[in-house]
Amino acid sequence: MSSIESLKVSLGKRSYSIHLGHHWLADGGRHVGRATTSRRFFLLSVAKVHALYGRRIEKALRGLGQVSTYLMPDGERAKNERTLLAILRAMASHGLQRDACLVTLGGGVVGDMGGLASALYMRGIDVVHCPTTLLAQVDASVGGKTAIDFEGVKNLVGAFHQPKAVLLDTALLDSLTERQYRSGLAEVVKYGVIRDADFFAWLEDNVDAILRRDPAIVARMVRRSCEIKAEVVSADELELGARAHLNFGHTLGHALESAYDDWGLQHGEAVAYGMWAAGLLSWRLRWCRSEVPERIELLLRRLGLLRPLPPLSESRILRSLLLDKKAKGGEAQFVLTRKMGIVSIRSSVQKSLLGWVLRRLRHPKIDVSDLS
Ligand code: GLY
Repeated sequence: MSSIESLKVSLGKRSYSIHLGHHWLADGGRHVGRATTSRRFFLLSVAKVHALYGRRIEKALRGLGQVSTYLMPDGERAKNERTLLAILRAMASHGLQRDACLVTLGGGVVGDMGGLASALYMRGIDVVHCPTTLLAQVDASVGGKTAIDFEGVKNLVGAFHQPKAVLLDTALLDSLTERQYRSGLAEVVKYGVIRDADFFAWLEDNVDAILRRDPAIVARMVRRSCEIKAEVVSADELELGARAHLNFGHTLGHALESAYDDWGLQHGEAVAYGMWAAGLLSWRLRWCRSEVPERIELLLRRLGLLRPLPPLSESRILRSLLLDKKAKGGEAQFVLTRKMGIVSIRSSVQKSLLGWVLRRLRHPKIDVSDLS
């Protein structure tokens, strides 16, 4: 077991720690025991993840109290009201009371569903997250956002409900498929673009080690990502201001994710396209130099993202943009770059410019003369 480092998310009485280490989940009980007074645990996971790591966390929790386990269906398609009600029913049938603690073991979908179920059950019980994907470790598990997709709109129904602790074991990333791992890297790149130009340059310098999943490099990458996420959330828990910067690449990313639902674009893959698009928009609006989208594109390609997209309906994507939760007053909101490490919000981007960006994503050779 490696040493455990702790980062704090500072939210007054709702503050909590993110504990990071390599190959230490079986020892996580100590940190759960400090984070919650609960001694009745409800473990939420999916079969595939539970088969790999379930016993370890159950054993750790059994050292503290009673544990029941519930396995939900896997994948984004399960992130709906039916699964939510099934989880709540299971919690009720296990007789959980107000002093119970839900523990999630899985990726972003398990974390979002468990987070929302714990926010609703008896008007809120404790939750601890043990994220098992890179995407969940560096983003979804920190910050208390919980949601289900509803009426075809991603994350339409949800609540803010902060966890009591986040247990982050980077050894769990070894079992991710190449595609899952690379998809998570998109969120890592995001932190460099929105807050830390040196981190972005460090990612550029360490692509090979990152792709090899070198444990020391992965630990540093995950740690810096979580530090930035913790700082942003501590400053603006409810997304009244700067937290919206975390949506960099997500406005178009979510629209692409819905449009390419059948094609199976993963969240991080869609965000990678969204970030490149946001960089291009920033440049076309003269917010930044062309070097910014060029560096974003190159790094994402080197990390194995931005694989070619099949033909898409421009109007369908533009419609989805307006359905996005972040749209205000009928205008999609974009997080755009000023320079590497600095972003701001902009609404009302012309449709013709968005159209040009969408065409450019599919055909990188298109130049500005195609801006009709
Ligand atoms: N994933 C964006 C946020 O937590 O605000």
